[in-house]
Amino acid sequence: MQLKRWLAAGAVVLATGAVAGAVPATASHPVDPSQQSLRQLGMRHDLYIGTAVDMAALADPADPQYRQIVSREFNSVTAENVMKWGELEPTRGTYNWAPADELIAAAKRNNQKVRGHVLVWHNQLPTWLTTGANDGTISKAELRDILKNHITTVVKRYKGKIWQWDVVNEAVSDPWDNPPTLHYKGFWAQHLGPGYVADAFRWARAADPKALLFYNDYNIEAFGSGDPANDKTQFVYDMAKQLLRDGVPIDGIGSQGHLGTQYGNYDTLQVTAALKQFAGLGLATAFTEVDVRSQLTAGVQAGDSNEINPRLQASAANYSVLLQACLADRHCLSYTVWGFTDRHSWVPGWFSDPPEGLATIMDENYQPKRAYNLMKADLIHSGPPYVLPRVPQKPRR
Ligand code: G3I
Repeated sequence: MQLKRWLAAGAVVLATGAVAGAVPATASHPVDPSQQSLRQLGMRHDLYIGTAVDMAALADPADPQYRQIVSREFNSVTAENVMKWGELEPTRGTYNWAPADELIAAAKRNNQKVRGHVLVWHNQLPTWLTTGANDGTISKAELRDILKNHITTVVKRYKGKIWQWDVVNEAVSDPWDNPPTLHYKGFWAQHLGPGYVADAFRWARAADPKALLFYNDYNIEAFGSGDPANDKTQFVYDMAKQLLRDGVPIDGIGSQGHLGTQYGNYDTLQVTAALKQFAGLGLATAFTEVDVRSQLTAGVQAGDSNEINPRLQASAANYSVLLQACLADRHCLSYTVWGFTDRHSWVPGWFSDPPEGLATIMDENYQPKRAYNLMKADLIHSGPPYVLPRVPQKPRR
C-alpha cells in the first residue's frame, strides 16, 4: 500500500512538479522534454514564451492554479489591462500604480521578463482626457504635453524593469473602416496628426535608454496585395521604414495574432516571409497577443464533439503556424498568448453575437488543449539548421 501511495504521489509530483523540472536530469534519467514547460522549451531557442496577465485573477486566493501556471509556463508577462492609461490615471494627476507594480514584483519573483502594454492607444483612455480634448478645454498643444508627460512618467517609473514597450498600438485603420483606404486612425491621429507616433518613440527612448520600443498591431501576420492603400502589413512596413529613415528609435514590430478558425488566416511560410521582411529593416519582431477563437455554434454549445474537435484542431494549427514562423526567424524574440485559459479570456465578452470562444491553450479547468501540446512539440522538434538561437536586438538611440 505504502509503495502504491508513494508511486501515486510520485506521479503527481511528476505531473505537476516535472514541469518545474522537479526530477533532476541524469544520464540514466534524461529530461523528457514533453514534461517540460513552455518557458523551459522556449529557452532551447532563447525564445521567451509569454502570457497576458489578468491581475484580478493573479490575486484571487480562490484561483491558485492561475498564478501557479503563470509562473510555471511563462517567462514573459504582459499586463492585460493595468498598464493602460485609463487604469493608471483614472483621475487627472492621480495614479493607480499598485496593480502594475504588483505585476513587476511578481515577474521579478518568477524570473520573468515584462512586456509593457501600452503607452499610446486610442482605447481605454481616461474620460478626463478624451472629454477635455473633444470639448476643447484641453488644447492641442496641451494634449501633446499631456501625452509627453504620460509617456515620460510611466516609462521612468518602470525604467530597467520593462524588456519591450508597446509604445504605440493599433494606429492604422482597417480596409473595412471608412474611408476604406488605409490611414492613421483614432483619437491621437485625429487630435495630433500622425506625427504623434514618432514623438511617442522619442519620448519613450528619452525616459528609458534600454527598453526595446515596439509598434504593435493586429492583422499584420503576413503581407497581402503589397499595396499600402489596402494591405495593412505593407502600410505598417512602410511606416516603420520611414520612422527609421527619420532616425526615430523604433526597435521592433509586435504582431498581435488574434486569429479566428472561421477565417482563412495565413500559412507558416507566408508569416515567416513577413517576419523576415521586418527583420530586413533591422527590426526585431514578436507575437504579442496570440489567441485563436472559434464560433460557438449550437452544436459546440451543446458539447457535440463533432463540432468541437475540428475547431480545437484548427485553433491548435494556427497557434503552431505563428510559433513555427517565429522560431524560423532569429529576430522574433518572444511569443505571447493573450491569456492561457478559457476561464480568463477577453473573447466571449467581446464576441457575443455570434458567440465566440475556445480561444486559449487551456480549457476553463486549466486542462491543456491540443494547442498547448502542439506548441510544445514545435519547440521540442525545432532546431538547426532552420531554427537557430535568437539574435538579441540592441535598443536604437
Ligand atoms: O476596469 C473596469 C471596471 O472598473 C469595471 O467595473 C468593469 C465593468 O465594465 O470594466 C472594467 O474595464 C474593463 C477592462 O477590460 C478591465 O477588465 C473594460 O470594460 C473591458 O472593455 C476591458 O477589456 C479589455 C480590452 O482590451 C479593452 O479594449 C480586455 O480585457 C483586453 O484583453 C483587451 O486587450 C486588447 C489589447 O489591449 C490590445 N489589442 C487587442 C486586445 C483585445 O481587445
